[in-house]
Amino acid sequence: MTQDELKALVGQAALQYVVPGEIVGVGTGSTVNKFIDALATMKDRIQGAVSSSNASTERLQALGIKVFDANEVGELAVYIDGADEIDGSGFMIKGGGAALTREKIVAAQSRRFVCIADESKLVDVLGRFPVPVEVIAMATQRLARQFAAMGGTARVRLKDGRAVLTDNGQQILDVTGLRNTDPLAFESEVNQWPGVVTVGVFAHQKAAVCLLGTASGVKTLAY
Ligand code: A5P
Repeated sequence: MTQDELKALVGQAALQYVVPGEIVGVGTGSTVNKFIDALATMKDRIQGAVSSSNASTERLQALGIKVFDANEVGELAVYIDGADEIDGSGFMIKGGGAALTREKIVAAQSRRFVCIADESKLVDVLGRFPVPVEVIAMATQRLARQFAAMGGTARVRLKDGRAVLTDNGQQILDVTGLRNTDPLAFESEVNQWPGVVTVGVFAHQKAAVCLLGTASGVKTLAY
């Protein structure tokens, strides 16, 4: 099976976690796009979605799924999103698509995080994938020095020679070289550095369930 087929498989499998009659939290990325396409088949049985990015909002609306502002609704039963890496405890690195801040907000508003990923995302220890950090631009160099003191290398994410801007108008630092053996402590520490908007380690908002796409089908990991 191709990676694309594995993504479609877990996107479809995630439908079983959507609570009929409710509003579902929707993440961002190529795996979530498959979920959104599958969600369209049951759009008449849900109220709609809270979205974590402009890209997901556009896709949801194009398929006729109502998108609610996070401030208009209360706690959500479930949030469905992909990951760049997930470990054996459900801790994740996210933000490869630059949507980490809104993803963490919707995850925090939801009782259960269901991660959908192909098996290439499962790791023993987080850190092969560079940790994305959304930052205020004037703090990038000082934050880079703070990451260097931890053994990491931080670079501003660029596209066509210009800094990538998030949906919130901020920049992303991608940090390589950090083997993350204590994601809870790492997330807590980096989150309180001035200039950090959100760090892309999801430990306090970890996954409750991961639907992992493998060659032999969908494997369900519960944490
Ligand atoms: C978006 O910012 C990310 O957190 C995505 O959830 C993550 O990058 C997974 O994306 P793919 O499903 O495209 O691999």
